[in-house]
Amino acid sequence: MDKLIIEGGHSLNGSLKASGAKNSALPILASSLLLEGKLTLSNIPHLKDVTTMIEVLGSMGANITLDEDMNLEIDTSNLKNQIARYELVKTMRASVLVLGPLLAKFGQAEVALPGGCAIGSRPVNLHLDCMKKLGAEVVTEGGYIKAKAENGLKGAEILFDTISVTGTENAIMAAVLAEGETVIKNAAREPEVGDLIDCLISMGAKIKGKGTKELMVFGVKELKQTSYEVMPDRIETATYLTAVAMTGGEVSIKNSMPETLDSVLKKLTEAGAKIDINENTINLKMDKNLKPVDISTAPYPLFPTDMQAQFISLNTIAEGQSSVVETIFENRFMHVQELIRMGGDISLAGNTAIINGKKNSLHSAPVMATDLRASASLVLAGLVAKGETKIDRIYHIDRGYERIEEKLNSLGANIERVTG
Ligand code: UD1
Repeated sequence: MDKLIIEGGHSLNGSLKASGAKNSALPILASSLLLEGKLTLSNIPHLKDVTTMIEVLGSMGANITLDEDMNLEIDTSNLKNQIARYELVKTMRASVLVLGPLLAKFGQAEVALPGGCAIGSRPVNLHLDCMKKLGAEVVTEGGYIKAKAENGLKGAEILFDTISVTGTENAIMAAVLAEGETVIKNAAREPEVGDLIDCLISMGAKIKGKGTKELMVFGVKELKQTSYEVMPDRIETATYLTAVAMTGGEVSIKNSMPETLDSVLKKLTEAGAKIDINENTINLKMDKNLKPVDISTAPYPLFPTDMQAQFISLNTIAEGQSSVVETIFENRFMHVQELIRMGGDISLAGNTAIINGKKNSLHSAPVMATDLRASASLVLAGLVAKGETKIDRIYHIDRGYERIEEKLNSLGANIERVTG
């Protein structure tokens, strides 16, 4: 199993280009199931989760090619089955995103239940409720969701009692080919939902209300082939900016989408960083003492849960006390035990972490990545820890960060990937 070995203590300087967004690429890849013809995609990040979604589509018979400009072409016109197998789904919960498009296009779908997950139970009940509202018969049997809509899906009113990002995406993808009008209330407003909507509109879908809590989808008979460029990854950008706030230095992230990062940039500024935005480039300079910041995670546009772990790392080396409240997922504090092993003074009470930050408090230790964002927080801690930090089980990080050690090393970090 690969490990990362990080020599701490180097400041970060230079510039980077943001990769394409994982959380947009996944639903957009799934949306290829809705089409007559090919979907051509650019700015797709090279990540394990993207490969898994490609394998899910490939295992159903989709034809996938990469052209000479690194554009991905997916043709689902000769699909052999509508089954997302457990072996693939268990490694990536977002595989459930094929449910809506399969039902809408083929009137049937079998998707393995994702099972447990390191960051809480993460159920799929909201996804199933949406499909039922749209007229599908849904049962769970033998570890699989089995859904059918023999006479096609019918537009309906869907109200989410909890805001769900992939739930909203599944509902939209199911509704675009349903007969009539669907209203989705309390929809997720994450920019990646908007990116999926833009891609579907370029296929000919009729959707109103992008970026708001209420979406209207007017069903169409078919969707046509299109080309689409995936948006930049705001969580990757925010993770690297947080790294620079911790190590000190000055870094520009190009090809980013600053307007999707308001809540995080505000907290980085509060922590003492100087941030300048020039079109799609974000420049962060840190030459002051880090200040601790209080965080509470919430659906977009508020502070993202996918940045919670990284900000706990930041707070461990900022002089003073801070609190970090996780309101989206239960059990998303697995990184805390590892950060404590590295010298962090953190205590947990329910969904709140209290951090007593101290400059230079982190030191090297062998630690273990437990989920995607938890591993990112350990990399950030390693960048500032005294000595050499060894991070085991880094396959988690490869699910969501493209070439993390290459990108950080290009800014002056010293990270080595050790295989085996
Ligand atoms: C997506 C993101 C993930 C991010 C999360 C929250 C993708 C591929 N992943 O995950 O990176 O951390 O949004 O911003 O886009 N819930 C239910 N029943 C359901 C579905 C969800 O109770 O059927 C609950 C979850 O347990 C959680 C909350 O709803 O407490 C929000 O989760 P959700 O927005 O659905 O997360 P994902 O879409 O899985």
